[in-house]
Amino acid sequence: MTKHILLTGGAGFIGSHCAAALTDAGHRVTILDDFSNAKPSVLDRLAMIAGTGQIALARGNILEAGFLDATFAADPIDGVIHLAAKKSVAESMVDPLGYIDTNIGGLTRLLAAMQAHGVFRLVFSSSATVYGDPKVLPFTEGMARSFANTYGFTKLVGEQICEQVAASDPRWAVGILRYFNPVGAHPSGLIGEDPNGVPTNLMPYVAAVAIGDAPALNVYGDDYDTPDGTGVRDYIHVCDLAEGHVQSLTALLDSGAGHTVNLGAGRGYSVLEVVRAYEAASGRTVPYVVKPRRAGDIDAFWASTELAERVLGFRARRGLDEMCASSWAWVQARAKANWSHTDGQTPD
Ligand code: UFG
Repeated sequence: MTKHILLTGGAGFIGSHCAAALTDAGHRVTILDDFSNAKPSVLDRLAMIAGTGQIALARGNILEAGFLDATFAADPIDGVIHLAAKKSVAESMVDPLGYIDTNIGGLTRLLAAMQAHGVFRLVFSSSATVYGDPKVLPFTEGMARSFANTYGFTKLVGEQICEQVAASDPRWAVGILRYFNPVGAHPSGLIGEDPNGVPTNLMPYVAAVAIGDAPALNVYGDDYDTPDGTGVRDYIHVCDLAEGHVQSLTALLDSGAGHTVNLGAGRGYSVLEVVRAYEAASGRTVPYVVKPRRAGDIDAFWASTELAERVLGFRARRGLDEMCASSWAWVQARAKANWSHTDGQTPD
């Protein structure tokens, strides 16, 4: 049955793919975004994927209670997927209060608006960062939580706030989704990862090198305790991740019971395996230079996927080759259409 879903941060990388997955599943979406780290033209491109009239925009900041109230009042909402947050580990150490304000203050204002309007179904965007560095693989949902930076702190506290609110009032059902490393892009080539400035995550940087925007990849450490010495991560195709959000929301709406699950593919790839797969997908060479380890990085981690499969019926279907091929198709399409340039001409 068609539901009306509020998708905060819906113009971003994960959000835009969630919007496509939600409309694909027959739902109507309102994207709430202030475009602080996304481009308004994403909405036009999403309309090409979803058809016109399926996705509305509420442009504004998650911290403005009046704006939130007006958004809920304008068109009744059945459930919320909350992605509007800051996500850079390094930036979170430079601007801890900004991270706490947006990530925690934004969540509590959203919860208050939801409660005031009788909406009690929430999917909360969390991260594998809440596991810290436990030395036990794979990461399972019952492991102790910790944090090593302000970004991780806001995700851990965000989980706890959701848990406390749900424990205090049985009307709530919250799905907490712990993402591993989302990469790749929509098969249409119309949406994908489009960070402002120089990318810091691996795959967008590899993409920048492949297309000629950067001369070489810095490989941060080749002396880790992994088969080839480079860091190992659980990369999950962003379309699989987006479908996991739809499955989480469906479970909340159907059962009224909350859940906390990992969204990963359940296996790890090293930096050099990603580089080789990207070279194969793009037909380009990706030169790299080995650099010292990046502060705060850990050797290897990947998700246990059992609980997500049991609770949501979720399983990542797309492999590393498809992740790289879709990323490559997206960066080529973006360069050809020059979307970043035309954004400046999009009316507010
Ligand atoms: N890496 C490089 N060169 C780069 C970028 C990354 O060698 O230019 C390596 C890293 O050292 C790591 C791997 O590629 O081994 C993946 O790095 P990413 O920056 O893409 O991702 P992380 O695993 O470091 O971080 C991600 C999210 C964080 C989150 C963290 C833990 O981006 O938000 O997972 O869940 F906190």
